[in-house]
This record gives sequence, structure tokens and C-alpha cells, in this order.
Amino acid sequence: MGLVLGIESSCDETAAAVVRDGREVLSSIVASQAALHAPFRGVVPEIASRSHLREIVPTIEAALEQARVSPRELTGVAATSQPGLVGSLLVGASAAKAFAWLHELPIVAVDHIAAHLYAALMEGAPTQLPALALVASGGHTALYYYKNPLEFEMLGCTNDDAAGEAFDKVAAILGLGYPGGPAIERVAFGVDPKPAAIAVPRVSSGPFDFSFSGLKTAVRYRVLPPGAKEKRHLTESEIATLAAGFQHAAVEHMALITMAAARARGARTILVGGGVACNDLLRKRLASACAPDGLDLRIPRPALCSDNAAMVAGLGAAMLDAGRRDDLGFPIYPSGVPQVHSSSPAPAEVRRP
Ligand code: KG4
Ligand code: ZN
Repeated sequence: MGLVLGIESSCDETAAAVVRDGREVLSSIVASQAALHAPFRGVVPEIASRSHLREIVPTIEAALEQARVSPRELTGVAATSQPGLVGSLLVGASAAKAFAWLHELPIVAVDHIAAHLYAALMEGAPTQLPALALVASGGHTALYYYKNPLEFEMLGCTNDDAAGEAFDKVAAILGLGYPGGPAIERVAFGVDPKPAAIAVPRVSSGPFDFSFSGLKTAVRYRVLPPGAKEKRHLTESEIATLAAGFQHAAVEHMALITMAAARARGARTILVGGGVACNDLLRKRLASACAPDGLDLRIPRPALCSDNAAMVAGLGAAMLDAGRRDDLGFPIYPSGVPQVHSSSPAPAEVRRP
């Protein structure tokens, strides 16, 4: 597989990494823009692309330097091409193309969601596939039947907000700052969620679909009851209880649907990825659900769950190994296009319309 340089810039993290043989992370540099977006309580696309422009070259240089790898030792370049913010994606993909052209390296365009899933395969002993795979991030929440890194099929997804988006919005409602996931986890730690009485969502659109916007509304109504003109003043302990109630309901929702899908598809392995997979309650809840039946639960270390380029380099290595190549004109797809279907005749369908 060799040494692959991965580049990720789909949202608000400028990242570059060098990975050996699709698994061994030699370097993983992430320049976070969280502080730039925090005053706005969410990502501002224009600020994101300008920051990527400033950071991309130093980030790539730092990744090569930390890995002690020179461009001529690389075997390929992988860059996120979808989904994500248009300006953000353009910066990383363009830098990757320039780098590949300059050093005459093969390049592959990588799907960000597929990379989050691949991250779960980068640690530990090889596991049994097919697996059931959950991605829970700031932009996406979906379940997949995962045959291998290049072939998987979506079983269900969120009808409204992504899980991470709900964490971020609830944190904003509770005045806990951005990004919301870690803030909610921090204040909810050790707090009993029951007094908040926030119900676990039920979804009728499909057995493996999710919905998080009702949870956000439930929290908002506690702060600003329907018809009320002014927000209630919440004590610290009321905020902590609401945060714990929300977190518990969101985690239960993801765990129940993931386990139901694993049973329905007879999967013995569960892969979890995306920033929300950093959440300790989710990790513990899934671990205790998997233990009785001996299911192999793979949740990567937090640095591989939130946005990073090691997962992009890892999946890129698997794609290059399978013979995939993109030309230097490959487009970016901000909304994403379905990457791989189990019915596709050959894995070389990276050439998109
Ligand atoms: O995968 P990611 O880094 O970026 C996207 O692809 O969106 O996910 C970011 C999301 C944010 O919404 C953030 O609040 C959430 O992951 N997140 C968490 C935790 N850490 C990050 N959510 C819950 N608990 C956490 N500990
Ligand atoms: Zn992500």
C-alpha cells in the first residue's frame, strides 16, 4: 500500500496526514478553526474557506515533516472531494491536485463519510466484515451495511438534524458555547438525566432512520415555553440536567437503532465514526449493548473520530490499492453523490458524471 498523503478540508478543520499501508498513522496534523467560529455559534463558510487558504500549505508541510517523509517517498495523494462546504472542499482538493501534479503522484478523490467509516478499521486486529456502520457527525447521521471500505449501502439516515448538529444547537440554547458536543458532555458528566424527562425519539419513516430535531425543540421549550415572551433563567444545575437529559435521549436513540439494524442484518461487527463517536456515553452504551452477544465494536480513538486527514489517507490507500485513480480535473461535490453501491459492477466508478 505504501505511504499516502491525505488532505481534508471539508468543513472547519484543515488537516493533512501521512499513513503507511492504510493503517499506520505516521503524522496527523489538524488545524482547528473552532475558535474562529465560536463567536457565531456555528461554522461560517466564508471564514472557513479563508482560514483553509491560510493553513493548507503549512499543514501539509507539517504532516510531511512530522512523518519524516519526503514527497518523493509517497505512493499517492488522497483528498476529500465530498460532501462539505464548497469553498472549504475546493481549497483542500486544489492543494492536493497541485501537490500530486508537482510530484507526479497518483491521486484519489475521497468521500468524507466513507473515510469516517474507514477510520474504525484503522486500529486493532482485522475484523469480520460485513459490518453495520454508524456515522454520527456534525453534518451526517446514517447507518450502513458495510461490506468493505469500497462497498456499502445506506440503511437509514436522519430525517432532519444530524446528531452533532443537535448537540451544537442544544448547547447554543443552553448557552454552553461551540462546539456543543464536548460542552454538553462536560456539563452532563455524572448528572442524572431522568428529572429532565426528555423522551427518546421515535421515527416512523423507516426502521433505521433517525430524528434529532424534536430533542432540540424539547430543550428549547424548557428554556422558552411556548407562548412565553422571555427566556427562563436556568440555574447551573437545571442546565446540567437538561444537557444530561438531551444527551441520554440522543445516545439511546442512536444505540437502539444501531443495535436493531445489526440484529436485522446479522452483523457481528459494528463500526462507529464521526465526531459524535467521541462521546463517552455513546461509546459505553454501545459497548454494553455489544458485550452480551460478543459483537465486535470498533470505535476509533477520538482523534480518528473527529475530522482528520489520517482517515482520508487510509481510505485513499485502500482505493489506490484497488486500482482507483482520479484525474487532476476531478470535481468536488458539496452535497455528495452516492459513492458506492453493492450492485455496482466494478469498484472503479470514481469517474463521476
Ligand atoms: O465528524 P466531525 O468532526 O465533523 C463533521 O464531519 O461534521 O463532527 C463534528 C461534530 C460536532 O457537531 C460536535 O459537536 C460533535 O461532532 N462532537 C460531539 C463530541 N465531540 C464532538 N458530540 C457529542 N459528544 C462529543 N464528545
Ligand atoms: Zn466529519
